[in-house]
Amino acid sequence: MMHMSDRRLLIAANWKMNASPLRSADTASAAYLPREQVDVVVFPSFLDIAECIKMGVVTGGQTARAEDNGAYTGDISMHMLRDAGVRYVLCGHSERRKLHGETNDDVAAEVEAALDHELIPLVCIGESEKDYESGKSEQVVEQQLDALLSLLRERHIDELLLAYEPVWAIGTGKTADTKKIASMHGKIRMLVSKQNVETRILYGGSVKPENAKEILELDEVDGVLVGGASLEPDSFTSIIDAGVSVH
Ligand code: PGA
Repeated sequence: MMHMSDRRLLIAANWKMNASPLRSADTASAAYLPREQVDVVVFPSFLDIAECIKMGVVTGGQTARAEDNGAYTGDISMHMLRDAGVRYVLCGHSERRKLHGETNDDVAAEVEAALDHELIPLVCIGESEKDYESGKSEQVVEQQLDALLSLLRERHIDELLLAYEPVWAIGTGKTADTKKIASMHGKIRMLVSKQNVETRILYGGSVKPENAKEILELDEVDGVLVGGASLEPDSFTSIIDAGVSVH
């Protein structure tokens, strides 16, 4: 089946706190380089960003603070990412929300700073297992979008990039079923379009070569954010190829 929407697919690799696969094999870089038919973006550790850029990979930061500089030991700013030649930045990944206490307001401030520095924010939202089991998925996602939508009311952007990542599907091997993914993406798109903003919505959570095609085929899905399977150049290539085959 072909992907019917005219939105361009984006296949993103989130390497998290793992060594760059490019370190173990030079030939690996081909797996992560830009493609003609789909957008490919890699989120390496900060230390691996320069090397990736040197090899021609389009990169993003896994997080960054909204402030430009200051007494924030261990942190890095949007401004610094931009200076380093980075193009994208993840805002509000669930691991940042959970392990670093990032709130919806913090995430909105990061998005604003990213836009100020001409970085493209990829904003992650998604409900926890507890919320999912108590039927609160939509409510939680709506709350997560709230501060972001207020920002969009004040500041016009053409397109918002979002990743819907149910927390219970991240790194667990469980993926949301395609019906749920399509309905959640539809709901998110409806909320964002009320602000007259186009959106590309990626799905994330245990995406792998075996399930990439059926997810990418969904009209409501504009790409995938891949953690574990993106560390294996062959797996990531298969996922990109799935995107190319349905694009
Ligand atoms: P996963 O991670 O593919 O390993 O589930 C996705 C993510 O956290 O972005």
